[in-house]
Amino acid sequence: MDMYKSLLEGNKRWVDEKLKEDPEFFNTLAKGQSPQVLWIGCSDSRVPANEITGTKPGDVFVHRNIANMVVHTDMNMLSVLDYAVNVLKVRHVIVCGHYGCGGVKAAMGNQQFGIIDNWLRNIKDVYRLHADELDKIENEEERFNRLVEINVMEQVFDLSKTSIIQNAWRDRNLPFIHGWVYSLHTGIIKDLGVTFDSTTKMTSVFNITASKVEVA
Ligand code: CO
Repeated sequence: MDMYKSLLEGNKRWVDEKLKEDPEFFNTLAKGQSPQVLWIGCSDSRVPANEITGTKPGDVFVHRNIANMVVHTDMNMLSVLDYAVNVLKVRHVIVCGHYGCGGVKAAMGNQQFGIIDNWLRNIKDVYRLHADELDKIENEEERFNRLVEINVMEQVFDLSKTSIIQNAWRDRNLPFIHGWVYSLHTGIIKDLGVTFDSTTKMTSVFNITASKVEVA
């Protein structure tokens, strides 16, 4: 059978299962959503946000792109973030990367891949910022793993530099922002310990809620 047909059959089986567990399952979800978490993850098909966290439809608002990036000119990411923070009022924003990420691997190399090179440039900038640490790691696999971790941390810092996050921190001391890495080999998520809920540890040039300046 053609793969796309099996998706529709899989959907029917899933609906049957859900209704068997809870006849009101879809009626409840149709009333609205109030997820507590925004997930910013990689588009990689092996890292499905709900499945690996044991969560259900309605629990997690999701944004995915190649290598789980927070790029300040990305209207898609900014719109998702603004809606999640200011309308849904999520308590947590999680950037979740994964070891073995093809986007990070490609960014470590010197090959051209096409349009995506422009996206991967952001990861090359992350490498440049941490070149002192990364260049010292002789084992390529270990260097790759470390860049995956550092890239997630930098995306968490990039989140904290947005006016969306800083205004929310000023007004309601939320959301918490976190950096995680998922292992394709074990299925385990590692918390990188870069959780923030204020601008207090931030280099002053990035703090944009300290004072309001009149712009002529
Ligand atoms: Co990836």
